[in-house]
Amino acid sequence: MTRGVSRRGFLGLTGAAVALGAVGFAGRDLLRPGQPGLVLQSQAALPGRFEVPLPVPPVLRPTRSTGTTDYFDVVQQVADLEILPGLRTEAWTYGGSFPGPTIVSRSGRRAVVRHRNELPQPTVVHLHGGHTPAESDGYPMDLILPAGPAGSAAEGSAGGHAEHADGAAGSAVGRRDYTYPMEQRAATLWYHDHRHGFTGPAVWRGLAGFHLVHDDAEDDLHLPVGDRDIPLMIADRSFAADGGFHYPLVDPSMAEHGVEDRYMDGVLGDVVLVNGAPWPALDVDRVRYRLRFLNGSNARRYRLELDPQPSGGGALVQVGGDGGLLARPIAHDAIDIAPGERFDVVVDFARFAPGTRVRLLNRLGEGRTTEVMCFDVSSGRSEEDAQVPERLSSIERLDLSRATTTRTFQFQLSAHHGWTINGEPYRPGRPLARPRLGDIEVWRFITDVHHPVHVHLDPFQVVGRNNRGPGPYDAGWKDTVDVRPAGGVEVAVRFTDYAGAFMLHCHNLEHEDMAMMADFVTE
Ligand code: C2O
Ligand code: CU
Ligand code: CU
Repeated sequence: MTRGVSRRGFLGLTGAAVALGAVGFAGRDLLRPGQPGLVLQSQAALPGRFEVPLPVPPVLRPTRSTGTTDYFDVVQQVADLEILPGLRTEAWTYGGSFPGPTIVSRSGRRAVVRHRNELPQPTVVHLHGGHTPAESDGYPMDLILPAGPAGSAAEGSAGGHAEHADGAAGSAVGRRDYTYPMEQRAATLWYHDHRHGFTGPAVWRGLAGFHLVHDDAEDDLHLPVGDRDIPLMIADRSFAADGGFHYPLVDPSMAEHGVEDRYMDGVLGDVVLVNGAPWPALDVDRVRYRLRFLNGSNARRYRLELDPQPSGGGALVQVGGDGGLLARPIAHDAIDIAPGERFDVVVDFARFAPGTRVRLLNRLGEGRTTEVMCFDVSSGRSEEDAQVPERLSSIERLDLSRATTTRTFQFQLSAHHGWTINGEPYRPGRPLARPRLGDIEVWRFITDVHHPVHVHLDPFQVVGRNNRGPGPYDAGWKDTVDVRPAGGVEVAVRFTDYAGAFMLHCHNLEHEDMAMMADFVTE
């Protein structure tokens, strides 16, 4: 992990930043406003832009439904995908596709998802944004061990587990049922691997998918629906010469976790995939579309912007964030999105002339990664049946004057422990906080370099950044917040319903794997 860094404690914000520069990180652009991380160059021949149509992941049908519950089956399996034309990419998939199938839930209807692990390595499934009891939250030690030969006796039974945490479920052999109560508002959630130490390579190889929640309040708004409501998982990747996913594991056998030293700031790909396709194109009618942006990248941040901009600007009308609908729409010219974050926007393509090619750019990219995808606006006429009301939802403000506790979490590189929170590398079963269910708390996240901070169980509200008000991308309920280098973000949070061990971590997956994670236990 961290080598060659002299011993020093946390020096205060500027001090930490300067110290990093002084001890040999200067060439690594850690302090660049864009992002930490190093581009891993592909060895395969890369395709041009906008040559393939945008795929939309299939919606998973329940295997059965009762009055209260929908049951789903997902088989985690190796699959050969054609991501680069003419080449074969061996992926780790949910159900044979990358992204995995989209699971769709109705708020208040329980979803039980049975995952069977036919991959060569243990896995853990986490529903990001889910309000989920601890035993189904994908605690990083609660493994699904690879399934043995079909029908083997041990299947489904609990395996051994070394470390216990409150409410954790332990390991299981072959398969596990995750139970999601879905008592939460309409929102764009996603599920992905969360195995301790190996989340980065598992997600990079394909273990990620959408889980959308709908509710009546959202239906009443008449936002775009059906094939005009499109989830977009943006994820950068690099490819080996034979088309395989290229990732700089320190130990390819995965006995030891972590990436090669020079990638410890984060692995950046040189190919931008949207829903698993490189720089795809989508034909759109001249009407409104709801685009659900998810940054599913390991480490890369994006500044998304349409080009051309329609006259008057404000093309990206944000209607929702991580935790569902905003109170009111916010028109943006550009949106900064960090790993793990979601932004639901409505784009009215009637604002562009018929036949326009509208590119989605990444203003934080370099070379190829400055482009993401394009929308080809049709020249025909289309019926508009959607709208964006001025009021979207009501959001209860968490009242800071009632906050019972303030906690500070420092996300920082430590001389001896790699990426840490409050100087501690992740150790399962040793919580950094014990919040009481129902209390309002203020959590302060302080950083050395860029860290997208994510909290499980309940979303939070950003109350301030660097002693000012929230930033332009902080509206509504969030579960992941992008904290800038030498930055401080204060959020108000209230955990509810479920007692047990949950996670707080950096969503830069290389940082997460190299220990920037902590348990907190609700009680
Ligand atoms: Cu999306 Cu704990 O992660
Ligand atoms: Cu999560
Ligand atoms: Cu980080």
